[in-house]
Amino acid sequence: MRIVVVGATGHVGGYLVPRLVRAGHEVVAVSRGQREPYRADEAWASVERVDLDREAEDAAGTFGQRIAALDPDVVVDMICFSRASAEQLVDAVRGRVSMLVSCGSIWSRGILTEVPGTEDAPLNGWGAYGTGKAELEAYLLEQSAAGGVPATVIDPGHISGPGWHVINPAGNLDPAVWERLAFGEQLILPDEGLGLLHHVHADDVAQLFQLAIDRPEHAAGNAFFAVSARALTLRGFAEAAAGWFGREARLGYIPLSEYGSAAGEEHARTTAEHVSRSHAMSIEKGSRMLGYSPAYSSLQATREAVEWLNDHGTFSRPLPFA
Ligand SMILES: NC(=O)c1ccc[n+]([C@@H]2O[C@H](COP(=O)([O-])OP(=O)(O)OC[C@H]3O[C@@H](n4cnc5c(N)ncnc54)[C@H](OP(=O)(O)O)[C@@H]3O)[C@@H](O)[C@H]2O)c1
Repeated sequence: MRIVVVGATGHVGGYLVPRLVRAGHEVVAVSRGQREPYRADEAWASVERVDLDREAEDAAGTFGQRIAALDPDVVVDMICFSRASAEQLVDAVRGRVSMLVSCGSIWSRGILTEVPGTEDAPLNGWGAYGTGKAELEAYLLEQSAAGGVPATVIDPGHISGPGWHVINPAGNLDPAVWERLAFGEQLILPDEGLGLLHHVHADDVAQLFQLAIDRPEHAAGNAFFAVSARALTLRGFAEAAAGWFGREARLGYIPLSEYGSAAGEEHARTTAEHVSRSHAMSIEKGSRMLGYSPAYSSLQATREAVEWLNDHGTFSRPLPFA
């Protein structure tokens, strides 16, 4: 099949595009062309690259037509953030493609009533990002059910992997958190450290996208959570991460509302975004309907990311992995 991947060179695309090439597909990779793929792979040599700015084309009302003109059988949309943007694409490819697989987020859901959350949990995400993802998911699945473009939404958790910063045991991106754990220094966590984080390795997200493309009869009209098998508590994550360095975590606690005094305001805001959701999602639907089987646990995915950062001199002190 000819598969157009919009936002192809990022964290997920870096794994998905080589997977699709190896499966025998003809792949067209769309991006602004501002960066090389996160992962070098010989598969990129046989990929057609198209430079295009989705935001600018969206604003001009030409994005959908640009994608349709690439003549895809399947479109993978990795960078859709609003219903309007999804509508423009659907209107342009209706009747011309067999499937659209779009990237959502577990943040399309807000507070969960039951955990682990399942895909039928209400689309009650908040903030511009969560609301946009909720609205585009609702729209894509409704129009698919109504006989429009067969569509699937893949909702990842915190995407982790080698090459970028991942959400740490304090629920933010401060690299110093890893250093504190590695050198036996105290780490302050919000509340009792019982907030939840649900990571996923980028290659496992790619696996689920590929499965959806391979099994359209099961995937169309459905959303699937792309997460690891189990979520982490902040506290358990901190203790496990300290163990990577042969240490026990030295933890302290303060209320989330005061966390800025311990973590700095910017990192505390990121922490609050995660802890206030405390998502833990189920992979049962993806496993049952598509055969999704994540290769990485949350700890394996995050450890690989931190080892990569360490190997590439990201920390102010090299971390002494045991
Ligand atoms: N990060 C997370 O933990 C997380 C969690 C849940 C869901 N998600 C979702 O995952 C998706 C992002 O996937 P990712 O992490 O693989 O992406 P990413 O690493 O941020 O890469 C983005 C890709 O899109 C391209 N791009 C960015 N802006 C563009 C534009 N205006 N026009 C055309 N191409 C553009 C980039 O290449 P150029 O820069 O060269 O254009 C790159 O190929 C989003 O839908 C996000 O909401 C992320």
